[in-house]
Amino acid sequence: MINVTKTYLPNKEKYVKYIDEIYENGWLTNNGPLVQKLEKKLAEYLGVKNIILVSNGTVALEIAYRTLDIKGFAITTPFSFVATTSSLVTNNILPIFADIDPSSFNIDPKNIEKLITPNTSAIVPVHVFGNACEVEKIERIANKHNLKVIYDAAHAFDVKYKNQSVLNYGNISTLSFHSTKLFHSIEGGALIINDDKLVEKARYLINFGIKNAEEIPHLGTNAKMNEFEAAMGLCLLDDIEEIKEKRKDILENYRKELKELVQFQKQNGNATENYSYFPVVFKSEDQLLKVQKALNEKQIFPRRYFYPSLDTLEYIEPKQECKISRDISKRILCLPIYAELEKDIQNKIIDIIKSNLK
Ligand SMILES: Cc1ncc(COP(=O)(O)O)c(C=O)c1O
Repeated sequence: MINVTKTYLPNKEKYVKYIDEIYENGWLTNNGPLVQKLEKKLAEYLGVKNIILVSNGTVALEIAYRTLDIKGFAITTPFSFVATTSSLVTNNILPIFADIDPSSFNIDPKNIEKLITPNTSAIVPVHVFGNACEVEKIERIANKHNLKVIYDAAHAFDVKYKNQSVLNYGNISTLSFHSTKLFHSIEGGALIINDDKLVEKARYLINFGIKNAEEIPHLGTNAKMNEFEAAMGLCLLDDIEEIKEKRKDILENYRKELKELVQFQKQNGNATENYSYFPVVFKSEDQLLKVQKALNEKQIFPRRYFYPSLDTLEYIEPKQECKISRDISKRILCLPIYAELEKDIQNKIIDIIKSNLK
């Protein structure tokens, strides 16, 4: 069975060495030595100042909103994984959807400003499939209206914008290290916080709001990463360049073979790619369904990322409609891409797509 992705498992002996360390020191969680080591290494590798590791990417978003005291309305994209929106709703923040750009699939800055009201306190864009948003335009809008920006950068591990980490834009960026991601720690996530003064607060928030034995100044939660997850992250980090190289080859082959047949995501020309997904847009939903069925018959399972468009979620009131996002959602399919995807299997995928689009 070929799925849209396959979790990368590092060398087992290397992982077991870390597990031995955990057994020796008996420190399993609560900001242990491996979490601290991974934070340090990631900050260096990604080129960011402050990174806080947490238990997953959803809770990273929630902690970001709480750290910045986001209230009222947040303008966000309807074209994302559901956690971008559900994390807002869980924190009593109303998502207001700004439609996307039909070629980049990211929130279109042109649609943001007209949605701003006195109740708006934040913008929550997503670097969809690792494609950097128009960060400078978003920054100008946020500064003009005094809004906070939280980037859901779940897909944007190691993406650079104008030669520096894209994670350095906005007030906070969040990452997901779920095992389906380019870089993973089984489950996990991170906050990248640009204002040094907020780092301490976020650290309390991930640990029940506790400051010390006597003081609990904030309403916190439990969002800590454990040592077994950090050990996996440390192993992945050693292999990440090789993983990216292999994915790049696969992605380039798809691009070369499918360029006449489907629409690709338009990449931000000022940013690097991380090869984490390979989305293709078909001319119609019928065409997509035909290709999907043909692939499924051969035990190949691409994913309809992102479908449905989040502006159709039943639990969001008032109802909103983003036509471009709904249209792209119906016609987009993410093809299998992962380091160990064999060339002959990729060629089979390409052949099936070609023969069903004739
Ligand atoms: C865009 C986006 N945001 C948030 C999340 C949530 O991350 P996690 O699964 O680590 O909670 C994911 C992925 O799972 C995602 O793709």
